[in-house]
Amino acid sequence: MTEAILLVGGKGTRLRPLTVHTPKPMVPAAGVPFLTHQLARARAAGVEHIVMATSYLAEVFEPHFGDGSSMGLHLEYVTEDEPLGTGGAIRNVAPRLTSAPGEPVLIFNGDILTGLDIPALVATHREAGADVSLHLTRVEDPRAFGLVPTDPDGRVTAFLEKPQTPEEIVTDQVNAGAYVFNREVIDTIPAGRPVSVERETFPGLLAAGAHLQGMVDSTYWLDLGTPQAFVRGSADLVLGRAPSPAVPGRCGERLVLESATVAPDAKLSGGTVVGARARVGAGASIEGSTVLAGAVIEEGARVQDSLIGAGARIGARTVLHGAVIGDGADIGTDNELRDGVRVWCDAHIPDGAVRFSSDQ
Ligand code: GDD
Ligand code: MG
Repeated sequence: MTEAILLVGGKGTRLRPLTVHTPKPMVPAAGVPFLTHQLARARAAGVEHIVMATSYLAEVFEPHFGDGSSMGLHLEYVTEDEPLGTGGAIRNVAPRLTSAPGEPVLIFNGDILTGLDIPALVATHREAGADVSLHLTRVEDPRAFGLVPTDPDGRVTAFLEKPQTPEEIVTDQVNAGAYVFNREVIDTIPAGRPVSVERETFPGLLAAGAHLQGMVDSTYWLDLGTPQAFVRGSADLVLGRAPSPAVPGRCGERLVLESATVAPDAKLSGGTVVGARARVGAGASIEGSTVLAGAVIEEGARVQDSLIGAGARIGARTVLHGAVIGDGADIGTDNELRDGVRVWCDAHIPDGAVRFSSDQ
């Protein structure tokens, strides 16, 4: 297997309020655009040719990744005029594939951070003689995912996208967003119209008697669909919990990009990333958080599990916990912002304006 399709389109991104001008796949996780980790992991597994299927802001990928040669890859980009859905996007790039019928093609969702053993998925696929093989992972609440029950041999028996009723929730195994398709199976997806691989292609293949094989694997896996998950993923990359050959530098408690300035007594821990040209003031403490390029964390601020957008400012002594601060936002001194708060790009919060704890 030397070829892959990376799905990076769709109706937009839930990180959009944070990154109005940059789609999520390009937001830095552990110091490099998130997609870099997926590309590097595929390359390390022997993939040489990757077609990126995109439908929005595609123009930001190519200037950054170019033809892929700097990563030892041959990268191509295909942009849909209108989003074609996951299956439509796969079918749409078929003319770019060079694999022969019977050869496996790797396909992966662009918003997943995982330690999946890609060669093991390909080996499972070959051994089972499957048409399609899917990486499955176990989650506590499967409602946001595709539910994939299997028989004792790992053969897929059904595919239920976003199950809602308790009767539908028959297993805790979900589609982890990485597949191996036999090349010719891709041509069975109808061309020229939106198709959901989850709602149409997989159920259709099963109904037609195709062999879909599941590989349950309990390696690191995270869907980066929310800013909180993105922060967690970035920290796990830095800590080395999520394996990626693209993390710049050694794994550890913190990753400080070279052009950043951090006061000697500032405390950075829990996989915190301080981006290019960012500044961290004296006595500040930042734990498990991502500070994007050019942001400023002033003295004595305490930041935990938060995402600080590019060029944002966090005033002195302000406390952030589970917060998402948009690019260019300006948070005054002595504020307290807690779980789930999202501050829009370029918004301004005055000094001492928001607290959660009582006044003292
Ligand atoms: N090119 C293109 N065009 N890509 C698309 C389109 C499209 O129209 N629609 C979605 N994608 C890409 C997204 O960018 C993402 O990388 C991937 O396909 C999956 O789409 P999401 O919109 O993120 O789907 P989801 O997270 O709700 O569910 C999917 O992922 C789960 C695992 O995280 C499904 O595959 C579920 O079955 C799965 O469990
Ligand atoms: Mg997703």
